[in-house]
Amino acid sequence: MSEEIAVIPGDGIGREVVPAALEVLEALDLGFEFREGVAGDRVLESRGEALPEETYDLAAEADATLFGAAGETAADVILPLREAVGSFANVRPARAYPGVDSVRPETDLVFVRENTEGVYAGIESEIADGVTTLTRVITDSASRKIAEFGFEYAEANGYDDVTVAHKANVMRTTDGQFLDSVATVAEAGGYEYDEALMDALAMHLVLRPESYGVIVCPNLAGDVLSDLAAGLVGGLGLLPSANVGEDNALFEPVHGSAPDIAGEGIANPAATVLSAAMLLEHLGYDAAAATVRDAVETVLAEGPRTPDLGGDASTSAVTEAIVERL
Ligand code: NAI
Ligand code: MG
Repeated sequence: MSEEIAVIPGDGIGREVVPAALEVLEALDLGFEFREGVAGDRVLESRGEALPEETYDLAAEADATLFGAAGETAADVILPLREAVGSFANVRPARAYPGVDSVRPETDLVFVRENTEGVYAGIESEIADGVTTLTRVITDSASRKIAEFGFEYAEANGYDDVTVAHKANVMRTTDGQFLDSVATVAEAGGYEYDEALMDALAMHLVLRPESYGVIVCPNLAGDVLSDLAAGLVGGLGLLPSANVGEDNALFEPVHGSAPDIAGEGIANPAATVLSAAMLLEHLGYDAAAATVRDAVETVLAEGPRTPDLGGDASTSAVTEAIVERL
């Protein structure tokens, strides 16, 4: 059966790193069918909308999507695309790699972030001049779903520690609900976990990341803590992510369109190639995923490296090196 993969490069370095990841996927010769869609700032300019309906449909109907990045239109592109694939979980692994300069070389974390509600539910208002409010939505169903996903992910991927981030000492009702839902799922499935206040957790992640494995988070906490972890392992050029739904998913580097280096041909393709590896694993191509990861790790350790990692190689030189090692 041929898998249909939607490919949406977007803006800036998305147009450099997505073709790089595509080169790697094509080299594996798995018989995938790639369909390209357009989205982002340039599309807004030329067509009046950042995410044309046909691109939304492309992602909704594909078996999986590989997305690069959008620029200023990021929220108008990525939020609907996550919805198109029905994503409820955002998975962000943050691992240090041998040979790459990192603050905490012992870091091996996976953030499992709730992807639909919390303070990102979009319910904000100005109730009077200079007085604004935001509604934080935490539901039992979404919290159970993310907890179940987190526990199963930890088990399937060999992580012993599951930590649940929260701030229920202050947000008693909403994070109280979150913790209750997690506890219900854990009890039913016989899972063990620790709870951690998210502010203290931020400090502990810096001081002793080796004490943590999978971290299950409400939406905003997951966004912030995973970027903090990115800093521990050497930067955004290395971090892949998955937006997982019931029967569809979208994979993207954590980074944005990087306008400061776009067009120079020096963007690090690793984050997007590692996102492609997550895509392969999601579709059940575990051996191919491991091959891609090994190739990336070898190139990170031995070079060539892009300037963000202290090297002077181009995106295409690094991509070629990865393809050679497949
Ligand atoms: P950014 O991630 O694009 O860049 C931050 C810094 O990291 C820059 O110095 C950049 O050169 C560097 N960097 C990022 N990825 C790299 C790579 N693969 N190789 C080498 N260096 C890399 O974040 P920034 O600057 O805050 O945002 C730029 C634009 O991207 C904005 O318009 C923003 O809206 C958009 N954005 C889009 C996202 C998405 O589409 N999911 C996510 C984050 C930002
Ligand atoms: Mg972010």
